[in-house]
Amino acid sequence: MGKVTISELGDHVGETVTLNGWLYNKRSSGKIWFIILRDGTGYTQGVVARGNVSDDVFDLEPTLTQESSVSMTGMVKEDKRSIGGYELDVTDVVVYQIAEEYPITKKEHGTAFLMDNRHLWLRSRKQNAVLKIRAEAVRAIRDYLDSNGFVNLDTPIFTGNACEGTTTLFETEYFGQKAYLAQSGQLYNEANIMSFGKVYCFGPTFRAEKSKTRRHLTEFWMVEPEIAYCDLNENMGWGEGLICHIVQWALDKCGDQLEVLERDTSQLEKIIAPFPRISYTEAVDILNKNGTDFEWGGDFGGGHETIISEHFDGPVTVHRFPAAIKAFYMKRDPEDEKLALGMDILAPEGYGEVIGGGEREDDHDTLLKRVEEHELPEEAFKWYLDLRKFGTVPHSGFGLGVERTVSWICGLSHLREAIPFPRMIHRLEP
Ligand code: 4AD
Ligand code: MG
Repeated sequence: MGKVTISELGDHVGETVTLNGWLYNKRSSGKIWFIILRDGTGYTQGVVARGNVSDDVFDLEPTLTQESSVSMTGMVKEDKRSIGGYELDVTDVVVYQIAEEYPITKKEHGTAFLMDNRHLWLRSRKQNAVLKIRAEAVRAIRDYLDSNGFVNLDTPIFTGNACEGTTTLFETEYFGQKAYLAQSGQLYNEANIMSFGKVYCFGPTFRAEKSKTRRHLTEFWMVEPEIAYCDLNENMGWGEGLICHIVQWALDKCGDQLEVLERDTSQLEKIIAPFPRISYTEAVDILNKNGTDFEWGGDFGGGHETIISEHFDGPVTVHRFPAAIKAFYMKRDPEDEKLALGMDILAPEGYGEVIGGGEREDDHDTLLKRVEEHELPEEAFKWYLDLRKFGTVPHSGFGLGVERTVSWICGLSHLREAIPFPRMIHRLEP
């Protein structure tokens, strides 16, 4: 007799096992009652019959409430009709705690209520499925990069300078000095590749996003690969390959979870690299042929990205943006100085940008000029400029947002469900 999880029941048919979990539901019909337990790995039913358990255990039924923590011991039986395909003939029940009246019930709750109760909402079947898919997406990302020769080197969260513009910086105090929470690990990755060739950092990043959208968190997780001797085209290939690997991994390993979410997996099955690649200018043409009045030079909003991606059956890669709307570090297109060698990968079904990246400026004097043009403090970028003095090379990289990717794979309507405890402009608790 041993402690097993619900997902392992199939290996224990005919054996007596103990399951530890929380009461999901119960039913009674006189001489017999049923306890439906969840343990994070699944749901299963225990059958409690008078005579198979002590009278004290049999009489527990009326006291048990939803979410009470209990363990049940019994013999595992296969039963196709039962939830999860197995059942326990219960011989003992141990109660750890009788839960108070649970606030989340089967009725529909509003989002604000669910978010206030995020610490409890996480227990729902749907939230459990989303977050398992998130965990698998993280495994897929690491698998892809680790098996392609990338070295994982994480970058600091306290930083002395901005990477993605100064408007979304979170400022904090650092022993009497100003520090900022990292918006990206990219600049450090650029130092790391000169030692390792191909690297990635993977961690939380912070942006003081003041707008309330379904695509923005103030704290989100980003994986950022960076590659030495790599141009824009090769970089797009890495981004597309990574996305395909994550999607395929989710289809292979998360079938049960995608089913709980009622996700139309045919939309995911057709994601195959390479993706169509269009220039920003071509994307603007698409917008203007489809009823928008978009002026060349502007930044795409979520609505624009949706219109662009509706023209394609899967993700689309957009490249060569106006330099004026892109970060200081982007290399210019040698064929057109107005353009930056950036690229964004847009997910289909209206999910928008999941990857942003590009080729980096690798010439010292040009980069110094950009730092000045962007009115960035030269002193803070001295080390970054140094990289262009000691064996500079063409190099590129990108960042993939974990929550945006998970939202898309799961078919969620808002990013907030793709992370256990989301941080947004009006949400610091729980
Ligand atoms: O396009 P972004 O700003 O690119 C960078 O930060 C580069 N330094 C990355 C690099 O080249 N190493 O952000 C990259 C991705 C976006 O495509 C999006 O998926 C995600 O990060 N992202 C956000 N996700 C959630 N909430 C936000 N506020 C996000 N901002 C960006
Ligand atoms: Mg971007």
